[in-house]
Order: sequence, then C-alpha cells, then structure tokens
Amino acid sequence: MKIPPVLSKSGLPLLLSVLAMAVIPMPAGLATANSGVRSNLEVFPGVRGCTDAMLAGHKEIAGVLEEPAPAVPGLKEAAALPEAHAQQKFGIREADPPPGAVMRNKTEPPFQIDQTTIWAALALFFGLALTIFVLLVNILKRQKAEKALLESQTVFQAFLEHSPVYIFFKDHEIRSLMLSRNYEKMLGMPLENILGKTMDEVFPSDLAKSMIEDDKRILGEGKCITVVEELGGKTYETTKFSVFIEGKPTMLAGFTLDISERRQAEEEKARLAEQLRQSHKLEAIGTLAGGIAHDFNNILSVIIGCAEIAKYNVPSDSLTAQDLDKILQAGQRAKDLVQQILTFSRQSKAELHTVKLQPLIREALKMLRASIPKSIEIREDIAEDCGPVMADPTQLYQVLVNLGSNAFHAMEEKGGILHVGLRLAATIPRQLQESGDICQEEFLELSISDTGQGISPEIIDRIFDPFFTTKEKGKGTGMGLAITYGVIKEYGGAITVESQPGRGTVFHIYLRQCREEAAAADAPVDELPRGSERILLVDDEELLAGLGGKMLERLGYQVTVKTKSFEALAAFQNQPADFDLVIADQTMPGMTGLDLARRMLQLRRDIPIILCTGYSALVDEQIAKSQGIREFAMKPLNNSAMARLIRQALDNG
Ligand SMILES: Nc1ncnc2c1ncn2[C@@H]1O[C@H](COP(=O)(O)OP(=O)(O)OP(=O)(O)O)[C@@H](O)[C@H]1O
Ligand SMILES: [Mg+2]
Repeated sequence: MKIPPVLSKSGLPLLLSVLAMAVIPMPAGLATANSGVRSNLEVFPGVRGCTDAMLAGHKEIAGVLEEPAPAVPGLKEAAALPEAHAQQKFGIREADPPPGAVMRNKTEPPFQIDQTTIWAALALFFGLALTIFVLLVNILKRQKAEKALLESQTVFQAFLEHSPVYIFFKDHEIRSLMLSRNYEKMLGMPLENILGKTMDEVFPSDLAKSMIEDDKRILGEGKCITVVEELGGKTYETTKFSVFIEGKPTMLAGFTLDISERRQAEEEKARLAEQLRQSHKLEAIGTLAGGIAHDFNNILSVIIGCAEIAKYNVPSDSLTAQDLDKILQAGQRAKDLVQQILTFSRQSKAELHTVKLQPLIREALKMLRASIPKSIEIREDIAEDCGPVMADPTQLYQVLVNLGSNAFHAMEEKGGILHVGLRLAATIPRQLQESGDICQEEFLELSISDTGQGISPEIIDRIFDPFFTTKEKGKGTGMGLAITYGVIKEYGGAITVESQPGRGTVFHIYLRQCREEAAAADAPVDELPRGSERILLVDDEELLAGLGGKMLERLGYQVTVKTKSFEALAAFQNQPADFDLVIADQTMPGMTGLDLARRMLQLRRDIPIILCTGYSALVDEQIAKSQGIREFAMKPLNNSAMARLIRQALDNG
C-alpha cells in the first residue's frame, strides 16, 4: 500500500490515528472491511483517497482491522463504530470520529464524575488551598508578632536591668509588679524580695504611707504627679502616672531620680549666695563701724576718763566709787564691742597679750548667768594652777560668750547644766600633734559642755563653717563658731567637739600656756608708773585733751595741752628741746596726728611720740612705727595703760 505524499507530509502518527478511527467502525471481514474502511475513511479529512496499498505496511492497523466487529443492532452498515482500545492506542481523540459514531469496546470508568462534582471538587480544592494560605499567612504573622514581642520583652528586660533611673510598675493594690534592677542597691535587698510586696513591707512607714496615698490618688484620678522623697540620707524625685489599657487605668508606673547631688549643689549655691550676702553685710557693718568708731571711741574716752578722775576724788570705799566702777566697766565693755565689730569686719588686728584665763572665765560666766534663765545651772571647775595664754582678752571673752550662748540655746527648752572647766590638758588632739614640736604639758584645756539637744552627725562637720546655722532666720548668723574657730587657730590652738544627739555637747579648746606672768589688771593710781618729764598733748577734742592733761599731771608730768595740730607744731617748732614726749591723736582736722609726727620728727629725730587713734583706715601700728613713731595706741586707753605706755616710750629711747 502506498502512502500519498500528502500523508507523508502531515506525518505518520496522524495518518495512523485517522486510519484506525476509520477502520474500527467496520463490522465486516477484512476484504469487505478494507473496501468499507476506505469508503468510511472518506469522511476523515486528509485520509480521503487512501488505498489498500497505502495502508498495507501498517500491521498494527491491519491487526486491528482484522478483528471482527460485533454487530450493532440497528446500526447502518455505513455507520462508523470506532474501537476504544485502538483509539486509546493510537491516541485518537474522542472528538475525532464522525458525528454519530459509536465507540466499540469502550471501557466505562470505575465511577462516573459529572461536571458539577468536578466543579465542586475544584471549588473545594481552591477553598482548601485558600484556607491553608490564609492560615499560613496568619501563622507567619503570629510568628513575626511573637518574635517582635519577644524582642521587645528582651529589650524591656535589658532596659530594667541597666536603667540608671529607678523604674517601677505597681498594680491596683499598690504592689510592685516590675522594678528596675537598681532598686536592689537603693533598698539593700534582692529584687525577688521586693517584687509583689506592698510599700509598707519595703519602705519606712512614714514614706510608705505617703506613697500609698499618692498612688491611690493617681490610680483614682488618672493624674501624673511628681514628688520629692527622702530615704537613707538621699533625696529622690519621683514622677508617677496611670497606665491606661483599653481606656482604663490598669496599673501605675513611674520613674525615680536620685537628685541628692543636684540638691546639694543647689543648697551649696544658695549657701554661697547667702554667704556672699552676709559678707557684704559684714563689709557694710565694717565700713560703718570704721566710720563711727573714732567718734564713738572719743565719747567713750571721755566717759572712762571722767569716771577715772572722779574716782580719785572720792573715798575708794564709798558708794560713788562703786558706781564709778560700774561706769568704768560698762565703758570698757562698750570699747570692747567697738573693737569686736572692727575685728569681725577685718578692720582691725588682734593684739595678743598674756592673759590669765581664770578671771576671764569667771567674768564671762557672770555675764552669762545674768542673761540666761535659772532653769540652766552653771557649774565651773577651774584649776588655779593653769598659767596664762597669749591671747586677746576681748576675743577670748567673745569665744566664751559664743560657746556659752550656743549651750544655752541647746538647753533653752528643757533646761540643763552648763559646765565650764579649765585644766592642764591630759591629751591633745591630733591636729596639734601633727603641727610638730609640741609638748603636751604646755597646753591648757578649756571645756564648755551642756546637757542640751546635741548635734546630729549629719551636720557636725559643718558647724564651724561661716554662716552655717540651724537657727531660724534672724535668730542666728552662723558666725559664732566660725569666729571661735578662727580665733583659736590664730593663737596656735585647737578646738574639738563631741556630741550625742539628745544628750549634750562638749567643746574642748586647747591653748598653749605661756611662762610670762599675765599683765597686771588696772592698778590703783598710786601704784602706776610715774614721771616728771615734759609732755606735749595734742587732741582736737577739748574734753579729752583736758582730761588727759589732768591725768598726766596727777602722774607727775609737766603737760602742755593743744587742741589744734598747727598750734602744737608751732609750739614745738619754737622750742623743740622743751619737750620730752609728744602724745598726739591721729584724727584731727587740718593736719593728722601722723603728719604732725612726721614734721616734728623732721625737726627733732629723737623726739618720742605716742600716736593714739580711735580708728583710722589710714594708719596702723606698722605704718606708724615705720615713720619713726615710738608707740601706737588704740583709744580709749585707761590710766594704767597710758601710764605704762608713757614710760615705755620715754625709757626705751
Ligand atoms: N552646744 C550646741 N548644741 C547643739 N547644737 C549646737 C551647739 N553649738 C553649736 N550648735 C549648732 O551649730 C550651729 C552653728 O553654731 P554657730 O554658733 O556658729 O551659729 P549660730 O549659733 O547658729 O548663730 P550665732 O552664733 O551667729 O548666733 C548652730 O546653729 C547649731 O545648730
Ligand atoms: Mg552661736
């Protein structure tokens, strides 16, 4: 059988398929079938015109074709009966046979699936796939959220671990839910012991009470507040607020800062500002004191001078003599006060003399007794064998008054015992031992103790600071102990303090005793050093000049009194050799005492001059002596001081 070129072109597989489809429907034997096939094949496009010779080489087709086709009742001979096996074998599609062709040997599928079922299955499949997809997406999302949550929890945990700020969360019952790790340091216990605890289980009761009140208010009102709290000597600032979850205040959170250093710095700043203000005030007082000191001292000189002269004219055991003594004492106190103001405002230097402490202490105690209530008992234990010390008696008196009045204030409410003791020091404080070359026996110990409120350990290091006071504004300047400390230091001594809150305080002052005997107190006039030399006395205050003149005459001197510096200079110019000593006041109109002295010294190099001054910013002992002035004296001078100074100036020429 020959295959037409058209078939060879369209390919063998197609041809065989077509053939099979064409042959299978043949119901008769091979010969008839072949001719039948051909005629039937006519209906397949592309197979039309195939001859037997053309199909002869295709055994398989022939084999198929040789199978006898079962008779199909009612089917026309010409009708095609495709065979299912062949169709399958040759890959002929069901749609290929001619319309009306019945498939022979068609095997039925094990079960029938109609289209609706397929669609349903498909829908189910896609539905399932979609569900799985959605689930997968959800799982991934959840995993991502969980990861993010885990990350944020880790971050938060790390934040709580390392936060320098104290962080806390509390529940509705005001129990600690979460806390930063640094609470362990603040409270001195492990975090596990704090978590879940109420405030009063962890904090001191007063603090816990105020915390709970604040926390309840915050949770109730949803407010944010900031409070400052004290704990263990530190100051903390806490800001706390409600945490709202779904619109409800669910818990309380907050953070706490340790502001102790900031507080301290602020307080220090305020303290420095106050110190500056006070030192300006002191400066102003100093200037003022300097300004009035001269006039004031002149007035005092008149009072003291007149009282002294009056005393010579009355019997020493008379009532008038006693009254005059009181005037002299008060005058002396007023003089000390001016001196004190000048010293404190650094306008004058202390003059150190040998001072016997015993009478000084007794005098100070007498004064204190008069000014403090009887509920405070004063006891003294003063060793008489203690030698004098080098000091300024006015300053030492002030020291005793400062310590005594502090003791009084400490016992003001409840009363108590003020004890003052003086003895040879049994031990000396370390600061003195460190200053080298110290012989313990040389030191005296002056103790002032009280049974008052005591000083708390927190402030005891600061009590000697200038302007440190715990007293109400206007009640204390905080200068008492600062001045005391400064004075004792200046004498090469030391001061220490011991105190027990609620029980009392004791201050110990250590001063080196000197071998020289203490200066004699004011001696009676007939025991004063006397002389007969010629003295030129110059003072612009007529009263003072007159008083001084009288006084010097009583001591045996020949006195020329001048109240104007020019007149005094003229008198001296005329007869410089007529005078053995000049006593001049510094502050005089026209020519000051210093100028007058300079001019006189130009006229006579060896003339002894005593320059007296109430107060002058222009001159001090050093300046005066550098100009050749023999002696320098601060007014007002009492008789004995003046008598001694005159002899000193005349005899040390
Ligand atoms: N004997 C004491 N008992 C208790 N506290 C004392 C005693 N002495 C001093 N203090 C404390 O030391 C602080 C400083 O004392 P200081 O004498 O320097 O100043 P002040 O007494 O406050 O003021 P001022 O002395 O100027 O009137 C006092 O405010 C007080 O708190
Ligand atoms: Mg004081």
